[in-house]
Amino acid sequence: MYKGKARAYTNIALIKYWGKENETLILPMNNSLSLTLDAFYTETSVTFSEEYTQDRFFLDGKQQSEAATKKISAFLDLVRAKANCPFFAQVNSRNFVPTAAGLASSASGLAALAGACNAALDLQLSQTELSRLARRGSGSACRSIFGGFVEWHTGDDDTSYATPIASEGWEKELSMLFILINDKEKDVSSRDGMRRTVETSSYYSGWLESTPQDLKKLKQAIREKDFQLLGETTEANALKMHATTMAATPPFTYWSPESLRAMDCVRSLRQKGLACYFTMDAGPNVKVLCQRKNEEAILTQLKKDFHPEQLIVAHAGQGLVDLPMTVTDPSMTNEGVSK
Ligand code: ADP
Ligand code: DP6
Repeated sequence: MYKGKARAYTNIALIKYWGKENETLILPMNNSLSLTLDAFYTETSVTFSEEYTQDRFFLDGKQQSEAATKKISAFLDLVRAKANCPFFAQVNSRNFVPTAAGLASSASGLAALAGACNAALDLQLSQTELSRLARRGSGSACRSIFGGFVEWHTGDDDTSYATPIASEGWEKELSMLFILINDKEKDVSSRDGMRRTVETSSYYSGWLESTPQDLKKLKQAIREKDFQLLGETTEANALKMHATTMAATPPFTYWSPESLRAMDCVRSLRQKGLACYFTMDAGPNVKVLCQRKNEEAILTQLKKDFHPEQLIVAHAGQGLVDLPMTVTDPSMTNEGVSK
């Protein structure tokens, strides 16, 4: 029996990953750049045992459907091949982040699974190898191996992975405020949404043409600690990504009327002289990027328009963390174990 456990934090892209060049290997069409956060994370334990007759996947204590387990099994197959391990596994995961709501549960979820497998089978993977492995589970997960600002590079199976971006600790001066509009599972997953966009959106070529320029500006903003350039570039890049979905066939959007209200609030705070910028992912929730020194003032303003329970504050977070297995871990007991 082999056991391991890890925690990974979510990351939010400032330059979005939107589209795959290779669906099986999960190779992106464009480089992306994210900030790993401290407020949302996943803890996952995995046990490989000769006694198991199938893979099982429990999320927040509930056994997951056949389809969800199949996705996990495909990932476990990669790990089993690496370790030359023939055993089935039980995965127990806890999301300290709403699942599939555009809050990046797939990033923390698959990064934590990669870390847990690495520990369980003593693969001794480097951070680069872990990033490559996590990528095969979910693209954005490859960025959650690292803390702070992180870039994920296009490339082939060997060369596409994430690297941390040196920032002299500037990320610690930033805050990301989440405006929770809806934390229920979305209708169009990011996987399906980006596929439909690549295949059908007449705006997709514009996305690919302009993203390298956005990336360049964002890196310059980090280098020069220029918050205005960081914010303006982040917001513009998110709007471009969302524009591509509206030009897909059939068209779709992750925005809800409440998302638009949140975007308007951010714009009007800016007009009042409070520097803040929004970004959005594959869901209706809005994330507001600001400087930590303005966090309180911006929160006070946002509380006038949104319920305090809708607002969550996040700061820069760390990379993957190995955790010790404890006796209360479900996979250390017999809960849900099939023999
Ligand atoms: P999100 O915006 O939350 O990342 P996605 O649609 O991109 O939403 O991804 C959600 C999918 O990520 C889930 O359906 C599931 O397949 C996977 N996922 C989420 N949490 C976990 C977890 N803890 N362990 C493994 N997979 C997870
Ligand atoms: C909009 O990484 O969840 O959040 O690789 O298909 O699992 P798969 O997609 P996923 O997509 C994230 C899309 C995004 C932008 C981003 O995080 O860069």
